Amino acid sequence: MGEEKRVLVTGGAGFVGSHLCERLLSSGARVLCLDNFYTGSAANVAHLRQHPGFQLMEHDVCVPISVEVDEIYNLACPASPVHYQREPVQTTRTSVLGALNMLELANRQGAKILQASTSEVYGDPAVHPQPESYWGNVNPVGPRSCYDEGKRCAETLFFDYRRQYGLGIKVARIFNTYGPRMQPDDGRVVSNFIVQALRGDGISIFGDGSQTRSFCYVDDLVDGLIRLMATPDSMTGPVNLGNPTEFSMLELAQEVLQATGSKSAIAYLPLPVDDPRQRKPDIALARSLGWQPTTALRTGLRLTIAHFEGQDLATPRLRNCA
Ligand SMILES: NC(=O)c1ccc[n+]([C@@H]2O[C@H](COP(=O)([O-])OP(=O)(O)OC[C@H]3O[C@@H](n4cnc5c(N)ncnc54)[C@H](O)[C@@H]3O)[C@@H](O)[C@H]2O)c1
Repeated sequence: MGEEKRVLVTGGAGFVGSHLCERLLSSGARVLCLDNFYTGSAANVAHLRQHPGFQLMEHDVCVPISVEVDEIYNLACPASPVHYQREPVQTTRTSVLGALNMLELANRQGAKILQASTSEVYGDPAVHPQPESYWGNVNPVGPRSCYDEGKRCAETLFFDYRRQYGLGIKVARIFNTYGPRMQPDDGRVVSNFIVQALRGDGISIFGDGSQTRSFCYVDDLVDGLIRLMATPDSMTGPVNLGNPTEFSMLELAQEVLQATGSKSAIAYLPLPVDDPRQRKPDIALARSLGWQPTTALRTGLRLTIAHFEGQDLATPRLRNCA
């Protein structure tokens, strides 16, 4: 028997990170979860604290760190527009400096490193659906740029560490993901709609609701991340990970209303700046790696709604973000 794999998950106390930590532990890895709790919380991984292979460390990825690891999943970065636009300079710093510090660590340790990049690198895409070869249509000076450009620069750093040092890198471009442990007030559309429906508030649709998104259930995404990490060294990505089934915002609202049995009405609001019209992954490359999402929206929504039903939703103020 070889030694257990030592895996570092930055942003491990966030929504996706907490599910990833859980899955890695159940596969027998030792997990160091590193987080500064900017948007995540210790509560998200409280159920893992007793696991002998789990360690939680409060740390900011902008500060260099030295730990012994075999693999790094770099997820640290606020992901929802309300959070990443709150302190945009900090968002870019986390994306770029965080990536740099984790790449330095991986390089020193000879560890493999995976970057949680985003479909936002495609901006408001002129190509639909988006294959990895599409370079994107990003506004470099808008309110979303701190995130979009920060993530694009992080990708550049990953590929330059590959070219300059031969580092084992993987870049996953994650499309909209939802599931339990999303924050009720972080402005992402699935959590917003569910919370509004459960509270009986109006369901806020921006514009006419015809803009589309594709939604991937978190378990499917975590499968994809782990599968990508396990690919041969030559597979660097970028690889799109997302669900290619498209839904308009109006359709999503209707699914949520049906699944919750809510009588909430639809409230139409003005479109935010730079809101993309369409976003849908081309996942041919991921499919060639043997991955595709398997959770239907209706099933994923049921599991996510169950999570929110167990919470006190009286207080959170919902923010306006698509
Ligand atoms: N959820 C999605 O739909 C989605 C889509 C595309 C990309 N992603 C990417 O996946 C990753 C995880 O997203 P998420 O949805 O779980 O978001 P999240 O906000 O729940 O998680 C991000 C985590 O990073 C931590 N963090 C932020 N800044 C940090 C710093 N400087 N140092 C250490 N930790 C820091 C936060 O506290 C949080 O726990 C992010 O990198 C995000 O960009 C997510």
